Amino acid sequence: MMELTIQLIPTGEIILSPGKNGESYCHSCTKAVGSDGVRITMESALTARDRVGVQDFVLLENYTSEAAFIENLRKRFKENLIYTYIGSVLVSVNPYKDLEIYTKNHMERYRGVNFYEVSPHIYAVSDNSYRSMRTERKDQCILISGESGAGKTEASKKILQYYAVTCPASDQVETVKDRLLQSNPVLEAFGNAKTLRNDNSSRFGKYMDIQFDFKGAPVGGHILNYLLEKSRVVHQNHGERNFHIFYQLIEGGEEDLLRRLGLEKNPQQYQYLVKGNCPKVSSINDRSDWKVVRKALSVIGFNEDEVEELLNIIASVLHLGNIQYGGEDSGNAYITTDTQIKYLARLLGVDGLVLKEALTHKKIIAKGEELKSPLNLEQAASARDALSKAVYGRTFTWLVNKINVSLAYKDDTYKNASVIGLLDIYGFEVFQHNSFEQFCINYCNEKLQQLFIELTLKSEQDEYEAEGITWEPVQYFNNKIICDLVEEKFKGIISILDEECLRPGDASDITFLEKLENTVGGHAHLTTHKLADGKTRKVMGREEFRLLHYAGDVNYNVNGFLDKNNDLLFRNLKEVMCMSENKILTQCFDRAELKDSKRPETAATQFKTSLAKLMEILMSKEPSYVRCIKPNDAKQAGRFDEVLIRHQVKYLGLMENLRVRRAGFAYRRHYETFLQRYKSLCPETWPSWQGKLADGVSTLVKHLGYKPEEYKLGRSKIFIRFPKTLFATEDALETRKHSLASKLQSSWKGYRQKTKYRKLRSSAVVVQAWWRGILACRRAQRRRQAANTIRRFIKGFIYRHNERCPENEYFLDYVRYSFLMKLRRNLPKSVLDKSWPTPPTALIEASEQLRKLYMQNMVWGYCKRINPEWKHQLEQKMVASEIFKNKKDNYPQSVPKLFLGTRLNGEEINPKVLQSLGSEKMKYAVPVTKYDRKGYKARPRQLLLTSNSAVIVEEAKLKQRIDYAALKGISVSSLSDGVFVLHVPTEDKKQKGDVVLQSDHIIETLTKVAICADKVNSININQGSITFTVGQGKEGIIDFTSGSELLVAKAKNGHLSVVSRNNGRM
Ligand SMILES: Nc1ncnc2c1ncn2[C@@H]1O[C@H](COP(=O)(O)OP(=O)(O)O)[C@@H](O)[C@H]1O
Ligand SMILES: [Mg+2]
Repeated sequence: MMELTIQLIPTGEIILSPGKNGESYCHSCTKAVGSDGVRITMESALTARDRVGVQDFVLLENYTSEAAFIENLRKRFKENLIYTYIGSVLVSVNPYKDLEIYTKNHMERYRGVNFYEVSPHIYAVSDNSYRSMRTERKDQCILISGESGAGKTEASKKILQYYAVTCPASDQVETVKDRLLQSNPVLEAFGNAKTLRNDNSSRFGKYMDIQFDFKGAPVGGHILNYLLEKSRVVHQNHGERNFHIFYQLIEGGEEDLLRRLGLEKNPQQYQYLVKGNCPKVSSINDRSDWKVVRKALSVIGFNEDEVEELLNIIASVLHLGNIQYGGEDSGNAYITTDTQIKYLARLLGVDGLVLKEALTHKKIIAKGEELKSPLNLEQAASARDALSKAVYGRTFTWLVNKINVSLAYKDDTYKNASVIGLLDIYGFEVFQHNSFEQFCINYCNEKLQQLFIELTLKSEQDEYEAEGITWEPVQYFNNKIICDLVEEKFKGIISILDEECLRPGDASDITFLEKLENTVGGHAHLTTHKLADGKTRKVMGREEFRLLHYAGDVNYNVNGFLDKNNDLLFRNLKEVMCMSENKILTQCFDRAELKDSKRPETAATQFKTSLAKLMEILMSKEPSYVRCIKPNDAKQAGRFDEVLIRHQVKYLGLMENLRVRRAGFAYRRHYETFLQRYKSLCPETWPSWQGKLADGVSTLVKHLGYKPEEYKLGRSKIFIRFPKTLFATEDALETRKHSLASKLQSSWKGYRQKTKYRKLRSSAVVVQAWWRGILACRRAQRRRQAANTIRRFIKGFIYRHNERCPENEYFLDYVRYSFLMKLRRNLPKSVLDKSWPTPPTALIEASEQLRKLYMQNMVWGYCKRINPEWKHQLEQKMVASEIFKNKKDNYPQSVPKLFLGTRLNGEEINPKVLQSLGSEKMKYAVPVTKYDRKGYKARPRQLLLTSNSAVIVEEAKLKQRIDYAALKGISVSSLSDGVFVLHVPTEDKKQKGDVVLQSDHIIETLTKVAICADKVNSININQGSITFTVGQGKEGIIDFTSGSELLVAKAKNGHLSVVSRNNGRM
């Protein structure tokens, strides 16, 4: 159900991703971070240590191994984890690419959380300092060091941004935040330059105080600057540039502005910009930077006039650089380029002639008298450069002060504001040739290291003391001895240098070196070519001295030491500057300076003093450290140059740092945190410990089998000596977590199933109840309806005989309806079927109509289907019916029997008969019995019906022919016999009288005769007897009776007696 995956995200954090179901899984020591997973503590990150290393170097088992240290750095760097701790010191490796780890979300993530709860980040350090400041009301400082290009300035900007975004603010604070942020682009424009090491290298040291009010809102700031690299104004090494501002002005400045400043839009025109042969840098956009700087200047509070005056100075430095000298025969220098002087006079607001003279002469005051002496070419050029450097350097200082005025908190109520200081200062520098600047820088780093040692050791010691644990002395190298070597009064290197600078006579860099040898030659941390042993001498120049710094040995070349330390500007140049109408310059060159006959402090002494002040400032604050490392010299992302890094690890003193931190215990945690995380590893502390925290931890570690030498219990913290103890505990937790997770899972699953089941059941019950209700309603409704129907039905039944009225209309309709429906189902199937449902009273008439209609319809249909033969048959049957129906007893039996066309076929009739009939068409023939007129003898005969006559035939003889016209009538009895009489006229001679015949098919035969002779109405049906003529007027009588047996015989009375069968079947 819940799958947790450990995922490394580019933020440098390890995220526990929730399972597929999307539930976040929080175990005791983790904190949920929104929906993107779970942030895990440093201890949890140990589980990924094989891949990403440890996030705190104190957890390195082999903490004295530089290789292990670098390997850990490399692992993390490869995973884009650029930050690692040494205790509370943050080590940062410049990624040289944009990592998505500085978003507002990240800032929020680090806000207000415990240092160890989140993965290492510059924001964690920022937040920790901020919180310490707020809760302990103690001023903080964050010291950022590292070599050029290691990311110091970026780090300080990130910190500033963090405060600007996360700290509370009010309206007026917004402007302070803006100014704090905007001071950066201005200072970078004037103080940064492209060097070989860094495209945006800070060429000055910077310490910035951010002041916060009692609510924690930033309300002001103050900047101290150190040792601007002024020499860059007049000279740049190959591939390097002058300060950004010159290029920005030339590239970005509006036409109008450039015209006013007398500048051309081409940096190649200016001697001070061509030395490095590098006017363009791909990573820098001077034009857009110019816009940023212009905007920043106005945010900081520069008005248009001030900006103009500032730019006048920048432009005049460029013009100064373009001043060319020619040499007179005497060797004195003169200026060959008057246009520059013209521009300079205007831009600086000085007298052109005075300036011109000052640039070619020097003025010395000896015994109250002013002496002017001309300069030779070389001197003039260096005087010009000195002026440029002085003008630029002082303007830079003025700029910093101006920014300070803008950042200063104005309100008195903020007097006791708390402060966080940010120190972004050059790290240890070692070049092929190291000069005065490196000397100063490395001295500065010695001082910072001193501070670091003192403060770290002190804080370690304080913690041990606070926890009641005996202090174990830590072996470390105290570099105080080196600091002393540099700065001690009278005996220190700076004192010796100053002495050489001030001493009358021809002091030179070499005499300085000699003096060093004489004064501090025996010092363990200094050597010179002359003093060194043979091996060292090989790698040293004759003009070099070597200092054995805490971070390593550096050879310094003494060339230029005196000049740089003196930093001299000829008096008459100073005077010209003091006369300037440029308001900025009048602030930079104070007339009081001219009256002061004391020599100004040397550069080294100034630096020493300012460093001492800085140390004082830092000592009064609680420090945090950010150590920046540059991964390669090519400014390339993803490249880890081991040699270079090892070098820096050494110079930053990181191993020393780790040793001090690890001297006692590798790991310490508050009891609460420790117990909270590991309580599941001991039955007594799981799931919760009720007693005192210390007892809980003690029980826990005993259960885990910690040996006494492995840990110590302080007042509020547990101290674990070796990382491996912690790792073992971590691993145990990892295993335990799995079993806990499955236990949790199973109970969670059970719980979920049960909840699901309960929910389903209660839903089912609700649904059932509703459904039952619905069903019951329906049933009740149906019953009610049924009762109503029945009631209506009964009422209707009672009123059924009444006129249609509301009471009976339903019933009547129902009866009608059901009759019609019944009728529909029981309609007669054929014409002969006479059945018909009995209609209700109200429908008798309609029923009768319907029946008729239906019958008609059926008959009509029947007729339509009938064929001609059948029609003929039926016509004959109709005739038979007309004649016999209800008249003769054997008629009903004849009805179902079909009439045949003839009863005798051609062969049965004698051909002679047929011949004698001739053309007469034969229509019917039937065998008959003829009874003689006399005696009634029965004789078999054939009766043939032609179109004209009926013919009686005996064999081949035509016995009698009766024309139809002559046929008077036909008589039959009403009984079931087959006897009939054909009456002929008596007057006809040819005829022998009426003929008595008998046919087995009496009905058929007579019907045929009636039709053929058209005598339908001439058939008489007689009851009892028939009288017939025998001829010559005599009559015969036939008596008909019914009996059991058919009998035709002459009776005694002379009548022919015909007895028909009772049942009359023929
Ligand atoms: N955290 C960082 N993320 C990305 N790039 C960085 C970071 N830190 C430094 N850089 C890159 O390295 C360059 C040099 O950094 P910078 O802070 O100017 O060095 P330093 O001040 O130590 O000389 C920057 O211009 C930037 O390109
Ligand atoms: Mg920098």
